[in-house]
Amino acid sequence: MDFNYSEEQLLIRQTARDFAEEHLAPGVMERDEEARFPAEQIKMMAELGFLGMIVPEKWNGAGVDFISYAMAIEELARADASAAVVMSVNNSLVCQIFLNWCNDRQREKYLKRLASGEILGAYSLSEPQSGSDASAMRTFAEKDGDHYILNGTKNWVTNGISSDVAVVYALTEKGVGYKGVSAFIVEKGWDGFSVGKKEDKLGIRGSDTCELYFDNCRLPAENLIGTAGQGFKIAMNTLDGGRIGIAAQALGIARAALEKSLEYSKEREQFGQPIANFGATHDKISNMACNIDAARLLIHRAAALKDAGKPFTKEGAMAKYFASKIAMEATTQCVQIFGGYGYMREYGVERLMRDAKITQIYEGTSEIQQLVIARELLRD
Ligand code: CAA
Repeated sequence: MDFNYSEEQLLIRQTARDFAEEHLAPGVMERDEEARFPAEQIKMMAELGFLGMIVPEKWNGAGVDFISYAMAIEELARADASAAVVMSVNNSLVCQIFLNWCNDRQREKYLKRLASGEILGAYSLSEPQSGSDASAMRTFAEKDGDHYILNGTKNWVTNGISSDVAVVYALTEKGVGYKGVSAFIVEKGWDGFSVGKKEDKLGIRGSDTCELYFDNCRLPAENLIGTAGQGFKIAMNTLDGGRIGIAAQALGIARAALEKSLEYSKEREQFGQPIANFGATHDKISNMACNIDAARLLIHRAAALKDAGKPFTKEGAMAKYFASKIAMEATTQCVQIFGGYGYMREYGVERLMRDAKITQIYEGTSEIQQLVIARELLRD
């Protein structure tokens, strides 16, 4: 593994950092308070090429490698984890499916606009009764000539409200388990497709999450992705890459917690001296720093494997498991360092703790990452 980043990678990281400081950090607390989608900021991110970073230029993307992508997500999440997940879902879940599994007609019609940020995408796998056990879905798509008729309810859909198009998983055959799952491209506005209320969440409140309802929604059969029954593999394969994005998001949150802890512990005096002088503070900040660097190494290893076209399922799961765990620990310790002030909204560190929590839940809970890691280890 090369520890020297290329000039291009460093430039992308700097561009993301400058953008985040100038356009995401100001107003992040208000957006969190009001649960307001960062619409203007996402538009600017699209202009910078961030919405289709991993998509080749041929399809209107920026065509950068996955390490650069992870670096950009880390920088954005350090300022605003909500804006970071909007970008992560659009890139490593939605655009990734178009790159790996769709045909050129589908790419021409949707991917070009998704990558340029003209339209936004969502990825809709979970249902009220099927979260971790993803193949236990009930949404059903019945073939009807050159159409499918879609019925069911999906939930916890990130970008569900702001998106224009969603990749939706549904059974096309019952009683055969995951082999009956298929993936479809579904456009907002089609008859029978409606969107639920915006969920009131603990964290990443700037991003929108909602249910999607399908009531006899007619889809052209040409919007099937790959072949019927291939959906579960598409979902799993895509989540492998998505998990690198979420790991990078967790890393950005953890870094914000460390930076705020360092700044505050140098300013805050107790017992006649800055709390930075105390061993209890050293313990916390040194742990945070080691964990952050270790998480970044795991993330970049998984990204490097992906860039090299090598298997990275286990490494991606390890990166997400570890980065989300240390993000939760770092943000909790940061609140502890801030003490009573940390518990108050106006200091902005409790938001980090709230934002960190979701990284242990979405795109596969920590328990699912452990299962994926253990299965891969036992297979070796
Ligand atoms: N890549 C490609 N194929 C894969 C795969 C991968 N990473 N993992 C499994 N498969 C294939 C298997 O090879 C198998 O196919 P074969 O029989 O042909 O070999 C098939 O898929 C079934 O695999 P399993 O037997 O392992 O399936 P399982 O039912 O035991 O489930 C699981 C495995 C890991 C638990 C999986 O269900 C899982 O990852 N669950 C978590 C789901 C999840 O992450 N949900 C997040 C929702 S998305 C989200 O959060 C959206 C958002 O808006 C942010």
